[in-house]
Parts: sequence; structure tokens; C-alpha cells
Amino acid sequence: MLHFVIVALMVLPHTCGQNPAIQVLLTNKGLQYGKHVGAEWIQDMLDHVTLPDIQGTFSTLFGTVSYTLSGITITKCDFPEPNVAYSQEYSGFKTSITGLSIALSGNWATKFGILHESGSFDMAIFGVDVTSVVKLERKADGHLSVSSIICDGEVQDVDIRLYGGFSWIFQPFVHYIKGHIIEEIRKNICPAVQTSIEELETHLQAMNVSFDVNQVLSLELPLTGSPVVSPSNLTLGLKGEFYSIQTHAEPPFKSKPFMMPNIPGYMLSAGVSEFTLNSAAYGYFTAGKLQILITEKMVPKFSPIHLNTSSMGPYIPQLPKLFPGLPMTLQVYATEAPTVSLQSDVVNLTIQAAVKASAVESNGSSIPLFGLNVVVMLSGKMWIADGKVKGSVMLNNFTLTLASTQVGPFKTNSLENMCKKGIELFGVPQVNKKLAEGVMLPRMKHIQPVNSILTVEKGFISISSDAQVLDML
Ligand SMILES: *[C@@H]1O[C@H](CO)[C@@H](O)[C@H](O)[C@H]1NC(C)=O
Ligand SMILES: *[C@@H]1O[C@H](CO)[C@@H](O)[C@H](O)[C@H]1NC(C)=O
Ligand SMILES: *[C@@H]1O[C@H](CO)[C@@H](O)[C@H](O)[C@H]1NC(C)=O
Ligand SMILES: *[C@@H]1O[C@H](CO)[C@@H](O)[C@H](O)[C@H]1NC(C)=O
Ligand SMILES: *[C@@H]1O[C@H](CO)[C@@H](O)[C@H](O)[C@H]1NC(C)=O
Ligand SMILES: *[C@@H]1O[C@H](CO)[C@@H](O)[C@H](O)[C@H]1NC(C)=O
Repeated sequence: MLHFVIVALMVLPHTCGQNPAIQVLLTNKGLQYGKHVGAEWIQDMLDHVTLPDIQGTFSTLFGTVSYTLSGITITKCDFPEPNVAYSQEYSGFKTSITGLSIALSGNWATKFGILHESGSFDMAIFGVDVTSVVKLERKADGHLSVSSIICDGEVQDVDIRLYGGFSWIFQPFVHYIKGHIIEEIRKNICPAVQTSIEELETHLQAMNVSFDVNQVLSLELPLTGSPVVSPSNLTLGLKGEFYSIQTHAEPPFKSKPFMMPNIPGYMLSAGVSEFTLNSAAYGYFTAGKLQILITEKMVPKFSPIHLNTSSMGPYIPQLPKLFPGLPMTLQVYATEAPTVSLQSDVVNLTIQAAVKASAVESNGSSIPLFGLNVVVMLSGKMWIADGKVKGSVMLNNFTLTLASTQVGPFKTNSLENMCKKGIELFGVPQVNKKLAEGVMLPRMKHIQPVNSILTVEKGFISISSDAQVLDML
């Protein structure tokens, strides 16, 4: 069951002394749900387990008989709901199962001198108690690591019925070998627990703490510190930094610490900081992806203004006179990485860009006309609906200044107003259409977020959610 819990934490999975830019918190509700799912999974798994053979000897009046119990399979397992709790003391989880009963069947064989006997048997094991404590740690490379630090297994009693062969002869001796069988079973419990924890550990170490999000960005999610375990929750701090795959340039800003809000009633919470969002913007910027060539084709048909020199007359009077009737292009590119700033309920986005306007001659050569610097400030909202993160933006402020001109000076006020109207009438609605479609919350193969909520806090976005496990088997 820990398997589920820990894998769930690496959802939505190098460095030290850095503030985590993404925090993931598992509540007690999440732990209990994980346990419940895990218990069902273990119950199912036990149906397919074959236990190791048990061998021993017992003495009779006539000499020593050796016996083997083999092909032992579980026929029925009454699996009580385990107890799982956070262990602050051991920085991990404590799991205990009490009163487990198991019915088994298999084959018995005895050897006494040259006499061989065999048959089948049914066995019932009563009162199996298992206590396990696992510790969670951060490995030097930022992987989450799980290890068994305490394990205790007890078996109260077994009952064995032999069938076939001379079973009626051997049945009375079962009484003498019971102690040995109980001990054999008991001895196997903790190694089995250990093996499954080691399997989980192998799984965790094989997980990537860095992966490519798309062709431009990679996301690094190593742990920045040890997992923090309290009596009611477990918090993992992750690096949460995007990089341009091409440049891997470190942004000139650092992540700031933030405190996850206590939003009761959810299984999982995640905090995604301003830094994470800004590192993504910086990644796109350094990869040179924040640029676009605007041509007449991209201007909506119904627009009163078109991208040609004649159409610019009201804003730049000399332009139609110098270059009459030529189509124009606008090369727009970010001059700085866009910045996101988060405050309660508000997402602000500032984009600084330069525009190079050119006229295109009929033979295809372009004539540089002028350059502009623009600052676009958007403010928006974010929420979750239908399992998707959605949003909306509005234009807060738009400023335009002349940076260079090959056509002589001109006043930018009316050009600024026209651009502002254009952004409000065409740009913003287009962005809002995309944002209304939303993006799916990150999910894993078998785990889907349900009842998710999103709030924008000062410096970070907080998402709280329940999870639902689809068919795990
Ligand atoms: C981990 O990353 C490597 C290289 O980026 C990739 O080949 C591999 O498939 C990834 N493994 C998983 C489990 O995602
Ligand atoms: C996590 O547990 C600690 C200690 O019990 C508590 O102070 C904190 O509020 C909890 N955090 C959340 C987000 O529930
Ligand atoms: C320039 O744009 C105006 C609309 O603003 C349009 O009427 C005119 O036909 C266009 N001229 C050329 C050469 O495309
Ligand atoms: C966001 O923009 C609004 C309006 O321009 C401004 O009042 C507010 O201070 C900004 N908030 C942040 C965090 O920059
Ligand atoms: C295109 O035409 C202009 C004059 O109309 C000329 O100056 C320019 O050299 C030409 N460019 C090319 C690539 O032919
Ligand atoms: C827009 O930004 C400019 C400069 O960045 C500032 O002078 C102006 O007051 C801002 N306008 C609004 C409405 O915030």
C-alpha cells in the first residue's frame, strides 16, 4: 500500500539548500485512502502467491522421519484492514496488521529410510500480526528513498490436516512439528516485507526526477530536502524548475519559501510557486521561442485596419506617402522573459517586447520602417472546472514607445490606442478562448484527481484534490 502512496506523491517526480518551488502534501485522509486501496491490492496479490517449501524432521519410536511441505498456495485470506499512520519519530510510516488468518493448501511428503509417503494437506494459520516501519529519505541525487527500519512478524497458531497416503499415521505427529512450522512461517514474514519494500525502492530509484515536458522545456523535480513527516501529514519539497532543453540556462531569479495553506478535507495538496511559472517563461525566452512574425494573413478579415502602408496613414502620416500601397510585416519578439506575479486571486503577467515593422516590396525584399518597444500587462484568474485548469485574462495596461525610425519621427499616442483596442478586441478574446478550454490536471495511468480546487495565493498556486484509483490490477 505504501507503493501506491509514494507513487501518488511523485505526480503530478539534485540540488541542496534551495527553496522548494513545488510542494506536495499528503494528508491523513490521503494516507488512509491509499491504505484502503493498497489493502485490496495486497489481498488480490496474496491469491497468487506461492510460499517456499517447508522442510524438517521429527522423531518417532522407530527413528527420524523427514518431511517436506511443498507447493504451498494461499486458498483464502481473511485480510483485516491494516493500520497506517505517519511516524514523525522515524520520518516515515508505521503499518500494522493484526489478526490475519490464512488458509493454505499444498502437498506433504515424508521420508523414513527407504519409505516414501505423500499426499495433500490443508493448513490454517491464525493470528498473524505484522508491524512494519519504513523511513522516507532524500537521496543525494534528489530521489525519494524508502527503507524498512523495523519489522516484526508473529504467528499464533497453525492447524494442519493431512490427506492421502499414510496420512492417518502421520497426522498425530503434526502436533510435534507445529512449532517448527510456525517458526518457518514467522521467519518468512519480514523478509517478504523487506522484499516488497526493496521492490518499491527500486521503482523509486528508477523514476525520473527530470523529464521533458514538450520539445522546448524540461521540468526538474528532485527533492530539495528530506521529506517532512508530521503526525497529520507528509510534505515533499521539490525543485520545480523548468529549463530550456536547448540552453539549460539558469534564470537570474531564485525561488522564495512559501507555506502551504491548511485546506482540510482533501487527500493531497500541491503548491506551485511563482518561481516555477517564471522559470517556464524564462525557458521559452532563452530558447528563442517568444517571437512571431505578424503578416496581413493573420489580421482578421473584419478588422478596420490592415497591415499595409496605406492603412497606417492615420497613425504615421508620412508612411503612405513614402511607400504607397505596400503590405507590411511586424516582427514581434520578447526583449525580456515574461514575468508572472501571484497575489490572492490574481495572476499578473507582464510582457516586454519589441516590434520591428517593415514594408514588403513586390519582389519580396523588405524595407525596415520603424521599431517599437511595448509593455503589455495582463491580469487574470485561474480555477478548476471539469478536472481542467482554466483561466481568463484582461488587459491591464499597454504602453508603446518609439525605439527607432527609418521614416522620420511620429507621435505614438494614436498608434498606442489603436494597438490597445486591437489587443482588447482580438488578442484577449483569443487567449481567453484557449484558457477556457483549459488544460488537464496532471494524472497518472491509474490515478485520477477528483474534487479538485485551485486558489491563487501570494507567491504560489495551491491545488487541493482527492484522488480516485481506477482499476489498479
Ligand atoms: C527517464 O528519462 C530517460 C531519458 O530522458 C528516458 O529514456 C526514460 O524513458 C525515462 N523513464 C521513465 C520511466 O520515464
Ligand atoms: C501539517 O501538519 C502540521 C503538524 O501537524 C500542521 O501544523 C500543519 O498545519 C499541517 N499542514 C497542512 C497543510 O495541513
Ligand atoms: C490596405 O488596407 C486597407 C484597409 O485598411 C484596404 O482597404 C486596402 O485595400 C489595403 N491595400 C492593399 C494594397 O492591400
Ligand atoms: C497586478 O496588477 C494590478 C493592476 O495593475 C495591480 O494593482 C497589482 O498590484 C498587481 N499585482 C501584482 C502582484 O503585481
Ligand atoms: C527589389 O526592388 C527594389 C526597387 O523596387 C530594388 O531596390 C531591390 O534591389 C530589389 N530587390 C531584389 C532582391 O531584387
Ligand atoms: C501603465 O504603465 C505606465 C508605465 O509603465 C504607467 O505610467 C501608467 O500609470 C500605467 N497605467 C495604468 C492604468 O496602470
